[in-house]
This record gives sequence, C-alpha cells and structure tokens, in this order.
Amino acid sequence: MTTPKLNVLPKFTSFTKSSAYVVGVKANGSTPVLAESTIDLSPIQQLDLGALGVKHSPEVTFRLPAPNGAIYLLVGIGDGTLDANKLREISGAASRELSDAKELVFGLPVKDKSETEAVFEGALLGRYQFGSYRGLNKLTENANVKITVVSPHKPTPQALTRIELIAAGVAATQDLVNAPANDIFPQSLAAAIQKAARGTGATVEIWDEKRLAADGFGGILGVGKGSSRPPRLVRVEYKPKNAKAHLAFVGKGITFDSGGLSIKPAASMVGMKYDMTGAATVGQAALVIARLGLPVRVTAWLCIAENLVSGTSTRPSDVLKIRNGKTVEVINTDAEGRLVLADGLSIASEAKPDMIVDVATLTGAASIALGNRYTGLMGHGRGIEALQAAAATAGELVWHMPLPADLRVSLKSEIADIANAKFGANGGMLLGGLFLQEFIGKKAKGDEQIDWAHLDIAPSANNDLAPWGYNGKGATGVMLRTLVALAESYR
Ligand code: BES
Ligand code: ZN
Ligand code: ZN
Repeated sequence: MTTPKLNVLPKFTSFTKSSAYVVGVKANGSTPVLAESTIDLSPIQQLDLGALGVKHSPEVTFRLPAPNGAIYLLVGIGDGTLDANKLREISGAASRELSDAKELVFGLPVKDKSETEAVFEGALLGRYQFGSYRGLNKLTENANVKITVVSPHKPTPQALTRIELIAAGVAATQDLVNAPANDIFPQSLAAAIQKAARGTGATVEIWDEKRLAADGFGGILGVGKGSSRPPRLVRVEYKPKNAKAHLAFVGKGITFDSGGLSIKPAASMVGMKYDMTGAATVGQAALVIARLGLPVRVTAWLCIAENLVSGTSTRPSDVLKIRNGKTVEVINTDAEGRLVLADGLSIASEAKPDMIVDVATLTGAASIALGNRYTGLMGHGRGIEALQAAAATAGELVWHMPLPADLRVSLKSEIADIANAKFGANGGMLLGGLFLQEFIGKKAKGDEQIDWAHLDIAPSANNDLAPWGYNGKGATGVMLRTLVALAESYR
C-alpha cells in the first residue's frame, strides 16, 4: 500500500473543491448538535440536524454540501467525551466512508498531540482496501491522497513517520492474509517475509523441510506432511546493540487449514486462508519494530505449514516428537495450530528471552466465547499485564481468560506425553492455551517458566460482519499495533 500524504494545519483557512471536511456530531440531550471543531462550521451552524436525520451515534456519517464545491462529512461521536482510542475509531470510520475522496480534512476536537496522532492513525488504517485481485474496477490509489488534520497540537515529524510505518505494517499484514492460499503457501509466505525484511536491519533465516527434520521440528513437519507444498520455519531477528530486553514472538502460519484427515465441513473451511494470520502478524510486527529502531531485541518465529488431506497426511493417533523432546498424540488433525506452535515455542525458549508472545487463529471456541472483536489473552508471569497495557495503548481489544489446571486431564494421552485435543471437552480456548503452556521453557535462572502471553485471534483476525471503526471487511491486522506498543514499553 502506498501511503497518503500527511499534513498538519494549525488553523483552518478555506474550503477547497472536492475536499471532504470531517466534523463531529454529539448529543445535546437527545438532539444531535455539531461538536466544537477546528473547521469553520458557520455554513451549517443554523441547520436543524435532527430534522435532517443526522445521528450522534458513534461512527454514523452524513454528507452535507460545504462552500466552494467541498463537502462536510458529519460523523457521530456519541456523548462528546473523546479519548485517543475513540478518536482513532471515529476517524477510521470517516476515512472508510470517504474511500473515494482525494483530500480528507479532519476537524475533530483533539486535546493534545497524542489525540492528533490517533486521528491520523485511524485515518490511515481506514484507508486500507485489498485490491490486488480485482481484474476490473480498480480501487482509488492512495498515492495521490492527502490527509490533513487541523489541530493546534502538532505532532513531531518522527511521530508522523512512526504512524506511517505502523499503518504500513498493518496493511502489509492484511495483504498477506487477504491473499488466497493458491498464492500464499509455505514457501511463498517465507519468501514474502524475506523480501519485506530488506533494508530494515532485521535478518531472516528459513528452515526448509530437510533442515526441519534434521533439527527435530516434528510438529511443523507432521502438520505439513499432507501437502505437496512443504512446510517452513522462518526466524526474523532484529538485534540492536542497545537492546533493553529480548522479546520472542511466535506465530501460527497455516496457509490453509482443511482440517487434515479430521476434515472440516465445507462451510467451516471457507476462510481458512486466514489461518496464517499469526505468522504474518508477528513477522510484520518485528519488521515495524526494526524500522522504528526500537531498543528491543525481537526474534519472531513463523511456523508455517499447509494442513491438507492426502495419502501422506498425519493420521489421528499418530505421535509426533516436538523440538523440546515432548511427544504429542494427534487425536484431531484439525487441532494443528498447537502442533506447529509447540515447535515454535520450544525453539523460542532456547534463547531464554524475557518474554514470549504467541499469536494464533487457534480455536473456534474463542469466537464462541468472545464474539467477533475481542482477542483471547492467556498466559503467565508478566505476560498478562504487559499485553493488557500494550493493547490499551494501541486501542485493541483483549480479554483475559484463565488457564485452569483442572482441565489438563482432558489432554492426557495413553501413549504419549500429551494429546492435542479431546472430542467433547469443554473450554476449547483454554485447552489450547494449556497445551501451549507445556512448551514454554524455563527462565535462565531458577525453575520458573519464561513470562508468556498467548493471543487467540480466531475471533478478531477476520472481520466478516459489518465494518466498524477503521476495520473494513476481511483481514484486520489485529495485534500488530499491540506488539509494537509492547516493544515501545521497554524504551
Ligand atoms: N484454524 C482453526 C480455528 C479457527 C476456527 C480459526 C474458526 C478461525 C475461525 C483451528 O485449527 C481449529 O480447527 N481448531 C479446532 C480445535 C479443535 C479440533 C480442538 C476448533 O476450533 O474446532
Ligand atoms: Zn484446524
Ligand atoms: Zn487452524
């Protein structure tokens, strides 16, 4: 995605033709009224907004003519109390609505620099559209688009560059996820990350199937066995000299999840190209952190395989040996994410990082519990509070779920160290987390496990309901901004 040009105006000057001016509408009792704005409201000040059908409900938009052939885009801001997270979503909704506009001018009420930055960020995120596969009807190019925020609180040029890099990282993740599985397969996903890493200061190393076998990655190999397109493990390493901490990211990269021999019903298989979202997210997050030059070492492990049905597929009841030596009985070949992640978490643990964060479209149960927007957060040590704080900064939704030890019996195997699933067991999201916990290594000193957070993005990776905030339909790129905020918290 090319980035629109960002521009800050301390004061409104005049209306220009074919520009769209975004202003807020808030509630005065039950009546919609114009919110204070940095843009001249006098041309529409006298209108009876209620009679026109304008709404103050957050994100609801309404177009009105403005002087000189310009337009106003009225956007609901609710009761008028705003913060950076609300502003990011409101500007994102306005930006989505104005996908055809060449210049967007925001006059939302911002109190400080960080709120001004949030308006820019929402506007950029809301511009994202996936157009690569359209033969006809090409989408508006972002290259010629200008986004202006009229605000007396001017962000620094570095702050604007940071927002551009983050939005571009989210868009790059969305592009990888939205692309269909006939183009994104283990080798091509690995190559795409390698190409994206050029010039960032991060290095990329790729394990092919031979090296995976030599190095004991039985989980990734076992899942990838049924596909003619063999699996890959990718390490993205960013290691600045002034690193204050070492973060390890691990991502589930199933380029297509048919379920394997425990095959999915036809309707559940639609959308399973999204099953590599975790890998795309951690890879792109590491690259954004490298481009930002943050003083944190980041090692991202992308565990990539295609889970297909064939004469060479892993069978139910097969036993796989994971990188850390533990054995897993595969009860259900559709619980494949945890098998590739077991290898990833094991190798990530070997370097004794300060924290491990995994990102995975792991369980349908997470969507049943949390709906369409929340990411399930599980973990131990500093993992939970660190991710809650980072998500709050980024304005992304996480919900802390438990890892109840009593459920561990459901993963008991008669012949191996652990089973990957149990039919009919309750708490599918929690069982996924409990399984992964077994593959987190110990800290350098003592007997404690490394601090860890598990993000189940099965609910939030793909938006197939109505667009909201800066999210259109399809891949959301969720949690990339949270991972960057986590890295920034070590400054
Ligand atoms: N990729 C799926 C999880 C998923 C489902 C993600 C729906 C996004 C939307 C995962 O590999 C899977 O199939 N999980 C099983 C686990 C079960 C077999 C223990 C599930 O959720 O049913
Ligand atoms: Zn599956
Ligand atoms: Zn899966």
